[in-house]
Amino acid sequence: MNERLENIRQEIIEGAKELSNSKSAYEFRKKFTDSKTGKIGLLMKEMKNIRPEERAGFGKGVNELKEWALDYFAKVEEKIKKAELEKRYESEKIDVTEPSTEIKKGNLHPITQMRNQLIDVFAGMGFEIYEGSEVENDYYNFTALNTPKDHPARDMQDTFYLSPEYLLRTQTSAGQIHVMENKKPPIKILSPGKVFRSDDDATHSPMFTQMEGLVVDEKITLCDLKGMLDVFVKKIYGEGTTTRLRPSYFPFTEPSVEVDCSCFECGGKGCRLCKQTGWIEILGAGIVNKKVLENCGIDSEKYSGLAFGIGIERTAMLKYGINNIKLLFESDLRVLSQIDD
Ligand code: DAH
Repeated sequence: MNERLENIRQEIIEGAKELSNSKSAYEFRKKFTDSKTGKIGLLMKEMKNIRPEERAGFGKGVNELKEWALDYFAKVEEKIKKAELEKRYESEKIDVTEPSTEIKKGNLHPITQMRNQLIDVFAGMGFEIYEGSEVENDYYNFTALNTPKDHPARDMQDTFYLSPEYLLRTQTSAGQIHVMENKKPPIKILSPGKVFRSDDDATHSPMFTQMEGLVVDEKITLCDLKGMLDVFVKKIYGEGTTTRLRPSYFPFTEPSVEVDCSCFECGGKGCRLCKQTGWIEILGAGIVNKKVLENCGIDSEKYSGLAFGIGIERTAMLKYGINNIKLLFESDLRVLSQIDD
């Protein structure tokens, strides 16, 4: 009998050497210690077949074996669990000193960046945003802006007509009329948006973006215009930059001016960017033509206004040194990701 118990003991010792994980250790333990089906459990059931004088010894032997086995299994399982835990720690180990994988950060499109910067500059001067619509009718885009049919100034902007009456706006100036029709002075608005012209070369695109400014109040003069544009060029192109106004012509302003800023590349000495002149043309502007105020029912004796129209692509191209407007529309990340202001 003792031999049977000893065999079971050996079987446990040998079998335990093969165990590799806690699941198999659990199954192996059950094979011996389960009270109904385990090898040691079954020995207890044999008690009735044992001769009475041997029963006590047998019972003691089985109990000792059982206690030994439970203790042995506990030790084996503890060892296996410890090994498993160490393996897990090893596999989950993080080396905090390793260089991390670079996460590529996106950036806003240069046109959006420029637009936001312009809005920031003018919002700081108290301008509100008015977003007009890209489809306009002839009246708002031209006639009310003192450009009636057959006016030669219409040739300045090659227009995409949708019908004889409707068109894709060629200028954000159309928004001026909507604002002045709906709001009485004082008016101080900034109107950014897409405009469309049948025009296509290195510096022109059929779709581009403008930022219109309009101020209407009592006693508005060219000095106010120059003061505001000076702030604008200093904020966008650098503190050392100034503006100069040159006479020009737009039907909706009188007088009209072309605004130049001192060359921020050479500081005015003359370089390739400013074509050796020291000045760069940046926008059109002027004092709102009295006829335009009157078209909108504003008393042109009491009020005067200033207006300006900034090309956002042109401003961005100058600022970031981009020589072809197409680079702004081609979605080439090698170009776009370089511009993050
Ligand atoms: N609308 C003009 C253009 O697209 C730009 C412009 C010039 C706007 C003078 C103005 C202005 O408000 O006063 O060429």
